[in-house]
Amino acid sequence: MAFPPEFLDELRTRVSLPGIVSRRVKLTKKGREYSGLCPFHNEKSPSFTVNEDKGFFHCFGCGAHGDAISFEMRANHLAFTEAVEKLAQELGLEVPKATPEERKREAQRASLHDAMEAACRFYEAQLRAAAGREGLAYLRDRGLSEDTIARFRLGWAPDNREALKKAVMSEACPESLLIEAGLLKKPEGGGASFDFFRGRVTFPVTDRRGRVVAFGARTLGDGQPKYLNSPDTPLFHKGSMLYGLAHARETARDKGVALAVEGYMDVIALHQAGFTYAVAPLGTALTESQIEEMWRLADEPILCFDGDAAGQRAMARAAERGLPILKPGKSLRFAVLPHPEDPDSLIKAKGPAAMQTVLDDAQPLFEVAWRLATEGRPLDTPERRAALEQELKDKAFGIADETVRWQYLAAFRDRMKSEFRPKWEPRKPGQPSGKRFDGKRRPGDPPLRALDGRLPGAGRPPPPASPQTRQEQLLLTILIVHPPLVEAAAERLGEMTFTDSELDKLRRGILKHLDIARDLDSPSLQGHLRSDGHSRVLDSLLDANAYKIARPDAVHEARSLWEHIFTLYTRKELQADVGHAVEIFAREPSEANFNYLAALLNSRGKGVNEDDGRDP
Ligand code: UTP
Ligand code: MN
Repeated sequence: MAFPPEFLDELRTRVSLPGIVSRRVKLTKKGREYSGLCPFHNEKSPSFTVNEDKGFFHCFGCGAHGDAISFEMRANHLAFTEAVEKLAQELGLEVPKATPEERKREAQRASLHDAMEAACRFYEAQLRAAAGREGLAYLRDRGLSEDTIARFRLGWAPDNREALKKAVMSEACPESLLIEAGLLKKPEGGGASFDFFRGRVTFPVTDRRGRVVAFGARTLGDGQPKYLNSPDTPLFHKGSMLYGLAHARETARDKGVALAVEGYMDVIALHQAGFTYAVAPLGTALTESQIEEMWRLADEPILCFDGDAAGQRAMARAAERGLPILKPGKSLRFAVLPHPEDPDSLIKAKGPAAMQTVLDDAQPLFEVAWRLATEGRPLDTPERRAALEQELKDKAFGIADETVRWQYLAAFRDRMKSEFRPKWEPRKPGQPSGKRFDGKRRPGDPPLRALDGRLPGAGRPPPPASPQTRQEQLLLTILIVHPPLVEAAAERLGEMTFTDSELDKLRRGILKHLDIARDLDSPSLQGHLRSDGHSRVLDSLLDANAYKIARPDAVHEARSLWEHIFTLYTRKELQADVGHAVEIFAREPSEANFNYLAALLNSRGKGVNEDDGRDP
């Protein structure tokens, strides 16, 4: 049964998506989003998010995506109708029943797709008619061939309030449908509906399969807005569509190259020049779902930006959007156009080869993230570099995929080390210079070298820690890298007091998560510890070599290492305790103090896995 759209809208507005989801998933609120473990695939760290405002869920791990209705369908294996009825019942909404006549009319009614297709044909025909002469001349003047105009189905919307309405409106394609499709507009104050696009060249936007779902329309003069776009409709959601996708799909997949540029005309000019894998968002910054869409075409799509300040800002935004959703093997590359060109004007002025050079110079996301974080800021004191380090870590910790997250943490750390290496420390042979991600300099790169000249003795290592502190560091690091080991260590950990007070706080901090540690991976435990305020001590720990000793893949080695260090450590701690107990007893020779000392002496030499008998 087809439900009336108003009813479904009402249902979607009334239902609380976090409420529905939290019956299945334990959700944690983070700003305006909720997150938790995805119910649709197996995972240990949460990549499932729920956006209450927008009413949809999204899993960065498996790509599951949808609204409350689709969540019910997937989670409970329901058909669409069943899911709608279930939700309606829970909300106390009455499900409208269609009459047989209504059903018949519904089936006869042209779909929104039919309406869009009819409009597209009409505009195409107008471009070749007398009314469209000016429009056609404009497109030719911009260098578009007949073939390109036909392939992209460019058209002309006559400068007349009722041209489309008169041509396309019929019993099967009623006014209400054309309004729903965004082709006619009903004046807000009442009155007759009129053509939405007038006196403009039209650019049909298609979905993946090539069905027309919207239009962009450009004025010929300097009128505002330059491009008018269809409103969002049931067929068209600006943020999830890419202009040119249907044309680009095949080549992009074949060649494994995808390219995102800014505008309609850029896409068309690129395709005409042979770059038939170009697409564009619709006048907005690329969204996550558009990035995901591009990853279906290629592993490392190239995003192309203008060479001006606005282009740099857009690039920064895109890098920030892309970073958290990276997956193993999936990344982004960034190409910058020579100012003031856009791809269309560059190809026109300098030819396709110039465009190819721009694409060849595209830089990996890692490189761009590093540059954006470091460029134009003084990094000449330890504090300033520490601030940078903190930022880079926060960035890396924002990555949902665990494997990529580790790689980014390591890569940022390596880059910090090689950029800020003290002058007197020779570079090991074979070690990359660290200046470039891949060792290659690329044209247009800003000089990063300048930073090295301003490093007066920075990066001197901190004073060496005492052996005891080193052991404390190692004991904690191993547990942080392997949270499942916490359980076995907990009792002993709970009885110690570390000499270093920061480390001791962290020791207690770890114990706080004892009950969940077994099921946590390291980044999740770190996440908990960070939100408990242990960021600083955690960073210093994970920076030390300790980190290397406790390789994440070597659980058994880690476990025996922990036991070994614990033995060494408690032996000394015991000695210190005995010394202390003697002192106390000497000062106040009570029976309790004697018993305590006796118990300590008694426990010396015992295996550390046994009870060490320190109970007074
Ligand atoms: P640009 O202003 O860079 O235009 O907008 P362009 O694509 O180079 O167009 P030409 O070459 O002047 O014809 C880039 C994109 O931003 C959106 C459109 O998608 C456009 O292609 N845009 C721009 C709008 O939606 N509305 C506007 O008024 C302007
Ligand atoms: Mn342009």
